[in-house]
Amino acid sequence: MSLPITIRESRKSDIEGVYRLYQSLSPEDLYMRFFTFHRVSHEEIEQLFSRQDHVTLLAESDGKIIGEATLYDDGEFSVVVDPHERRTGLGTSLVSGLIRKARELGLKTIFFYTLPENYPMIKIGKKLGFSLEYEEDQVKGTLNLN
Ligand SMILES: CC(C)(COP(=O)(O)OP(=O)(O)OC[C@H]1O[C@@H](n2cnc3c(N)ncnc32)[C@H](O)[C@@H]1OP(=O)(O)O)[C@@H](O)C(=O)NCCC(=O)NCCS
Repeated sequence: MSLPITIRESRKSDIEGVYRLYQSLSPEDLYMRFFTFHRVSHEEIEQLFSRQDHVTLLAESDGKIIGEATLYDDGEFSVVVDPHERRTGLGTSLVSGLIRKARELGLKTIFFYTLPENYPMIKIGKKLGFSLEYEEDQVKGTLNLN
């Protein structure tokens, strides 16, 4: 039986859990998330938590952080799910949560960038009504919230 999953805003005490989530990602996942190949350091996670220019939603199950989605003030967002927890709709739920959050914050549009080969992210964008622009080496998904 699968354990219940809670989606909620992040708090300072989640730094370790988010760090562990990032440690579980492959180099390819990190590239998809940040567009660069690098391991995420503890300092970078601490910086993310100390900045005020974003809202972060986390998915938690049995005390473990299994997904993270961050929306910045300019409307750009990104999302990541624990490799063992994928394909059950969690990525879609996190992005849906960010869309609700963006509406609450009064944002007019939200958008993401991803690579053309990132089938799951492009699928999420299509399912949730984003318009997709295919550029040479990336795809931009935009959702108008008006
Ligand atoms: C993109 C990501 C967040 C999706 O997470 P997820 O929890 O698997 O997402 P969902 O379960 O909601 O899946 C979305 C759709 O893609 C499909 N999908 C997911 N992984 C798939 C795979 N490996 N092969 C084929 N289809 C896949 C799902 O079946 C679903 O389609 P459906 O609604 O028709 O069933 C996850 O793959 C991830 O963390 N990737 C690395 C980081 C990344 O690329 N982030 C995006 C940067 S903006």
